[in-house]
Amino acid sequence: MSNKVAKLTLDGSAEPIDLPVLSGTLGPDVVDVGGLTAKGYFTYDPGFMSTAACESAITYIDGGKGVLLHRGYPIDQLAEHSDFLETCFLLLNGELPSTSEKEEFTNSIRYHTMVHEQVYEFFKGFPRDAHPMAIMVGVVGALSAFYHDALDITNAEHRKLAAHRLIAKIPTLAAMCYKHSIGQPFMYPRNDFSYSENFLHMMFNTPCEEAKVSPILAKAMDVIFLLHADHEQNASTSTVRLAGSTGTNPYACISSGIAALWGPAHGGANEAVLNMLYEIEDESRIEEFIARAKDKNDPFRLMGFGHRVYKNFDPRAKVMRKICDEVLDDLGVENDPLFRIARRLEKIALEDEYFIERKLYPNVDFYSGIILQAIGIPSSMFTVIFSLGRTPGWISHWNEMISQPYKIGRPRQLYKGSTQRDYPKK
Ligand code: ACO
Repeated sequence: MSNKVAKLTLDGSAEPIDLPVLSGTLGPDVVDVGGLTAKGYFTYDPGFMSTAACESAITYIDGGKGVLLHRGYPIDQLAEHSDFLETCFLLLNGELPSTSEKEEFTNSIRYHTMVHEQVYEFFKGFPRDAHPMAIMVGVVGALSAFYHDALDITNAEHRKLAAHRLIAKIPTLAAMCYKHSIGQPFMYPRNDFSYSENFLHMMFNTPCEEAKVSPILAKAMDVIFLLHADHEQNASTSTVRLAGSTGTNPYACISSGIAALWGPAHGGANEAVLNMLYEIEDESRIEEFIARAKDKNDPFRLMGFGHRVYKNFDPRAKVMRKICDEVLDDLGVENDPLFRIARRLEKIALEDEYFIERKLYPNVDFYSGIILQAIGIPSSMFTVIFSLGRTPGWISHWNEMISQPYKIGRPRQLYKGSTQRDYPKK
């Protein structure tokens, strides 16, 4: 703890209230307002714009400088030298694995890829046109029904097993959502494949035809998962922490994270990018949409441009842009009208004064939407892919919280309703 103290003077109070100032290893100092309740005050911060809700050692973001570190390692270095499963291990355990640790971890994830046969029965109850996120919220939460043997959250071994089960089974469930929507039989996982090869196999192969998964597409998928693996205390991660703080089981916590991610303001942006590209429809209409994006009286915004936190550049978008080029090249679809529109939009945004002045760069969702579309994944599955990638982050934050002394999350409020009144006599 630093020796710094903030002094809060309130009208009418004789003495200022001393508030300790805490310093992290990186980032701004934090004023500890925990003692204010005893003095009869709460703080007010809707949207938690100025509130650190916890102490964490997992991920650090400096939006102004375009920095994203997992356990201290920059995201671009992880994307280049690591892979998704190794990054999962890093997030969960704090250090990169040794060769034998990586092998053991990978084998454990492989071992847990199948879901209980009775889970297949759940799918029959969902309409074919159900949104895949609606199914994910249900089936991930339902996993807790199958693992009574290992639901003691105070037991570190149980927590580890739940983490491995979730990382292993969520791709299986995600692919099942897709197969259910198109009426094809579910594909069992293939444990001789890598994590992302197996996912693409379960998505696109059928019992009649098993095509070899392209290594470029498998790599692109792996990088998409890796780039989404964690993003500190975002809305879904905070939801997982809040749910977990009640002592509920990890499957219920991750299901609540999936529910929070579903919203268009969080996980739904890359789906919105695709919808926008379809709406533009033709290159000749790009100027019209750019003009609308700049028009103050028009609520339309270019989807996939700008970011709340990254004001100079999004380090994940830089990596994603390179992968996007490789995928479009591999599939030979650069001349597809949709991708031509995307390329033109990107060029205009990088050269146009309006976008430059406001630092509105293409964000990670812009490129991930294009890559997923090129791979043949329907846009309704995009948020599901995001939830798959974010699972290790959610689990790591849940585990970090449960491993230390913690309190149930219970925000307070600024009450603006009626004062006490009597029920009318009849
Ligand atoms: N298209 C056109 N103009 C934009 C856009 C856009 N996509 N984004 C921001 N602007 C303009 C605003 O009109 C505003 O202009 P003004 O200063 O002349 O009034 C200025 O840029 C600043 O905009 P804010 O809304 O203050 O920026 P904020 O940080 O609040 O918003 C956000 C960030 C929500 C991401 C916004 O840029 C946006 O709506 N983008 C499109 C949706 C999108 O891609 N979301 C995904 C984000 S990435 C992620 O979540 C992983």
